[in-house]
Amino acid sequence: MIEERPAYPSLENRTVRHRTPQAFSRDETSTEPADGDCSDHEWPACWDAAASLLEWSEPYERIVDEENAPFYRWFVGGHLNAAENCIDRHLEERKNQVALRWEGKRGERRTYTYYDLYREVSAVAAALREIGVEEDDVVTIYLPKLPELPITMLACARIGALHNVVFAGFAPTALAERMQRVDSRALVTCDGSFREETVINQKRKADTALASIGESLPTIVVDRLGSSHDMHLGRNQYDYDDLVEAFAGANVPPVPREATDPLFHIHTSGTTGEPQRMTHATGGYLTGVAWTAQTVFDLTPGTTIWCTADAGWITGHSYVVYGPLLSGATVVLAEGSLRYPDRHRPWEVIERNGVEVFYTTPGVIRTFMKWGESFPSSHDLSSLRLLGTVGEPIGPDTWEWYYTHVGEGRCPIVNTWWQTETGCVLISVRPGIDELKPGSVGPPLPGIEIQIVDEDGRELPPGEPGYLTIERPWPSMFAPLESDQYWVLAEYWQAFSDPRADSWRYFTGDRAVVDDDGYVTIIGRDDDVITIGNRRLGTAELEAAITTVDGITEAAAVAESTASETTLCVFATLEQEQRDRDAVRDAIADAIAENVGEFARPASVVFTPELPETYAGKTMYRLLEGVVNEQPLTDSDTLRNPEILGEIATILNQK
Ligand code: WT7
Repeated sequence: MIEERPAYPSLENRTVRHRTPQAFSRDETSTEPADGDCSDHEWPACWDAAASLLEWSEPYERIVDEENAPFYRWFVGGHLNAAENCIDRHLEERKNQVALRWEGKRGERRTYTYYDLYREVSAVAAALREIGVEEDDVVTIYLPKLPELPITMLACARIGALHNVVFAGFAPTALAERMQRVDSRALVTCDGSFREETVINQKRKADTALASIGESLPTIVVDRLGSSHDMHLGRNQYDYDDLVEAFAGANVPPVPREATDPLFHIHTSGTTGEPQRMTHATGGYLTGVAWTAQTVFDLTPGTTIWCTADAGWITGHSYVVYGPLLSGATVVLAEGSLRYPDRHRPWEVIERNGVEVFYTTPGVIRTFMKWGESFPSSHDLSSLRLLGTVGEPIGPDTWEWYYTHVGEGRCPIVNTWWQTETGCVLISVRPGIDELKPGSVGPPLPGIEIQIVDEDGRELPPGEPGYLTIERPWPSMFAPLESDQYWVLAEYWQAFSDPRADSWRYFTGDRAVVDDDGYVTIIGRDDDVITIGNRRLGTAELEAAITTVDGITEAAAVAESTASETTLCVFATLEQEQRDRDAVRDAIADAIAENVGEFARPASVVFTPELPETYAGKTMYRLLEGVVNEQPLTDSDTLRNPEILGEIATILNQK
């Protein structure tokens, strides 16, 4: 049943209440927190309300087990299946409602109802079993934005296998590494994809990765290119369509999983050289995602949402796949670039599909700004009700432009702060409830307690910037495998916890400041992680790629931001000053493209005699970033070689 929706309050009329998300139903005119909201004394019982959004085949006995803190276990004793929650439970009421609308790069369109999803997911689930995938096995999915991507994820979930989605833009080396790290038992990929006028051979990249692992893992290949390409299926490789046909009508009952069983792996970048393996547990992750799908994105059955993220990133997992489908919403999936065939595409997608909730990144919005308002203004965007942004700080100008030219002054903007590790949004305004403040991400959601602290972990008053930490565990927090717990402790918990007092505080890696109303503004990362095009990259991983080039002694990668985009800038020191610099520059760019991915190709490579470093030999990225972005430099007194900053500035000016 689709409810009538009242309009959102406008910025000028901020106190008007909006229909409340059904999870926290309350009197519409009340300003009191909803019944299900977490407040101090109720924690953790308050998470019951969020968990009730899911269907449990076996109720849980405990909300949270803190025995082995900070490795909390949520909803212990409960059983559920993710695919059943995303699909089967909707069949009775909305089997013929559209679940997924896909728009291909060549103008193709495909629509799946919830019943269609049910049938295809069941067939793929049966096929996965047939090729040897068992419960708890890991399946790597290396697909661009095709319907087969969410379908395969759900097929894994249905049989209790874990998916490990790897962004399709990653190079073979990066894919191989991410498969090996999770001991992947199977691979799902496609023959290729179109990039504007050309064709990318995805299958060749996958084959190269498989060859480097030295195993012939069972592989399912989706035919994206049609007759224009030969699939060249090798040993142990299967055509997706053939399998779906062979297993049409299969009845694969969803496998009940313990709430604490892992649902998937995903990789992210941290401060170490290697990509980090993240794991999310079934019950907690789904609870957090279902809860925020309602509270933050106001998704209810039939709402049409378009989140531009790739499913290879957590944003795609949570708000392209799981959040919307748990809510019975309609997902729009648009393959390819937002500028192809022309700059009208994003607005056409919204117009054609009646998109109500649009979720993207500040980088994308800045690109839209650069193109100009004539593009959105020549389309009917009246279906939009709510806009979202994520991934990096959004400047007030960008915010205003989004609000005015996309939201037409009518749609609230949720600037959502979260991370791969947090699983779901933790800091954001709730539309219709909280006031909007451009530039800020808003107050922490009910049940989430944050603290801004100084180096010694002391809480800082409003207005003073410091480290963003989280006080209490939340259901969708990552649930590392035992073998990951050691580094996870060091990376996230050690800095601000007191293990002897069994007091744990999660460090986000971000710096932030909170205002008198409790609204948080994110300043940026405090560690060696940079964000390019909303993709988190570890500087160490990039530098490992750079130093594969002969003659490079040291390298540092930083983000360079202009008003319209963020690009990668590489600093390198040469063994011999007189080398052919253009050749080395190309070799560095190629090494990054090859080892990390084409999307990470640097916009500039700068040679410098030295990198700024501390006495401990740690490269000072913050200072390099300051020089590149022409910001005032602070705290350069801990440098061993402070004079190098001036030299680098001179080199940059000569560029
Ligand atoms: C890092 C997490 C899961 C979201 C996509 C990225 C930065 C995230 C915001 C925001 C400013 C943000 C933080 C965070 N970030 N959202 N609204 N405003 N910065 O996920 O790759 O795990 O990156 O992205 O620095 O730590 P991720």
